[in-house]
Amino acid sequence: EGFYLHELEVIDSTNEEAKRLADKGAPSGALIWARQQTSGRGRRGRAWTSPVGNLYSSLLLRPDCPLFEAAKLTFLIAVALAEAIELVTGNRVRPDCKWPNDLMVNGRKISGILLESASNNGSETDYLVIGAGVNVAFYPDDAERPATSLSALGAPVSVGELISAYVGRVADWLPVWEAQGFAPVRDAWLRRAYGIGAPVIARLTERTLEGMFVGLDDDGSLVLRETGGMEHRIGAGEVFFK
Ligand code: BTN
Repeated sequence: EGFYLHELEVIDSTNEEAKRLADKGAPSGALIWARQQTSGRGRRGRAWTSPVGNLYSSLLLRPDCPLFEAAKLTFLIAVALAEAIELVTGNRVRPDCKWPNDLMVNGRKISGILLESASNNGSETDYLVIGAGVNVAFYPDDAERPATSLSALGAPVSVGELISAYVGRVADWLPVWEAQGFAPVRDAWLRRAYGIGAPVIARLTERTLEGMFVGLDDDGSLVLRETGGMEHRIGAGEVFFK
């Protein structure tokens, strides 16, 4: 299985472009890469500032499994992206994976992933679009959400090199996922998990839970252990690492 690179100067959002292509029947493996986005989007309806100089890409996949399984590909993408960053920076930058799908360096965000999906009849996956943004040259200045960039970390790299390394790591990981499922991805993710073994707060719709972040469940949920030993699986809601 190969990748079909669609290289663009500028687009509204690579996720939107990937979904448009998907609706026109594009095959699994289409990879949209744009130098710039005019309406880049983040999670929770936030905007993702997208000047020339950073990486914006979206991968279209048509996994042959139900949506709840396919959604765990976001962890594979996070690991692949972290490894790609290590490769191109010669290990000068080693990102941590923050649940559910950010990459952090020294507690600052360097990358965000936005997963979107469409299902056929109920739960079968029609397609998955996995958008990834990496702060290569620039990062947003936001006191509430500290960020950083590869340049700011003293590792300026070319976006083209980074996207090649990323495609290479995804191409290595996908067959592992197909042969062995989520387990090896989960292990790789946990080895670089941000805040593991440390206090965490989960604000769910109905209540707030406080405890330790102790693991990642095999359905991709965060495992929070309360002082008394009671464990909770967090699949949605806001999670804060102290
Ligand atoms: C987040 O952390 O909130 C997710 C950010 C995802 C940004 C990427 S950039 C490429 C793709 N296109 C978008 O509009 N968003 C994602």
